[in-house]
Amino acid sequence: MTALIIDGKTIAAEVRAEWKVRADHLIAHGTTPGMAVIIVGNDPASKVYVANKVKACAELGLYSIHVELAADTTEAALLDAVERLNNDPKIHGILVQLPLPRHLDAHKVIEAINPDKDVDGFHEKNVGALVTGQTPFPSCTPYGVMVMLEKTGINIEGKHAVVVGRSNIVGKPMALMLLQKNATVTICTSKTVDLAKHTRDADILIAAVGRANFITGDMVKPGSVVIDVGINRNAEGKLVGDVDFASVKEVAGYITPVPGGVGPMTITMLVANTVRAAERLSARNT
Ligand code: GUN
Repeated sequence: MTALIIDGKTIAAEVRAEWKVRADHLIAHGTTPGMAVIIVGNDPASKVYVANKVKACAELGLYSIHVELAADTTEAALLDAVERLNNDPKIHGILVQLPLPRHLDAHKVIEAINPDKDVDGFHEKNVGALVTGQTPFPSCTPYGVMVMLEKTGINIEGKHAVVVGRSNIVGKPMALMLLQKNATVTICTSKTVDLAKHTRDADILIAAVGRANFITGDMVKPGSVVIDVGINRNAEGKLVGDVDFASVKEVAGYITPVPGGVGPMTITMLVANTVRAAERLSARNT
């Protein structure tokens, strides 16, 4: 059997068109949704991600800026940049690209972002709201996965979803979003004893461990849905996911490719969260 490939680019284009209608409505009523990305240092991968985020905003007619700070920026200077954006009425969404250089406390910086502008959904207020199923800003990558499953017509309710990875950015919010849709959820890590026993039982398997080709065909249930959140470079410098695509596609029922799978969805949901932030903030000011 060969799995059906879930085309993230096509779904992302469809979802962006839906959000463009909402963005256009706001623009017509005098509010152009605005997003600011802060990037600290020169990590090449982060620079590519940030450029793609700014480009996606521009494509939808959103206002966007990126604030570049040197790798040796002090915490005070970074917090000051966040505070200026908190107070900037043209900015509705603020994102601090992670990871930050080691000398900076990411938690402290995230907590400094106005939760109403926290389009990453990383602030404790929004993480807490995610736990109760109320967050206005679901974190972009797991949110993108949920939309992708929905648009592909995959039923979640009652299914066994196994999330491999427990990061704050993907694994934990992913598990909560699946639970909210009545999946039976197992969270594993790269250290889980007999990991394959769990992954082989997954109707929906989400790989978010950050290790190239970590999930192989023998670890997957026949006919299952395999979502690859990983973005890694292999020994030859090629972009690969956490899933060994060649072996898994022979077993799974659905699979997402890397690149062209979850990546375009993440950026799309950032745009969606920025439009939603602008809707909420402008409703408050009228
Ligand atoms: N680094 C990798 N993914 C993300 C993300 O979704 N948001 C931020 N801010 N940084 C990231």
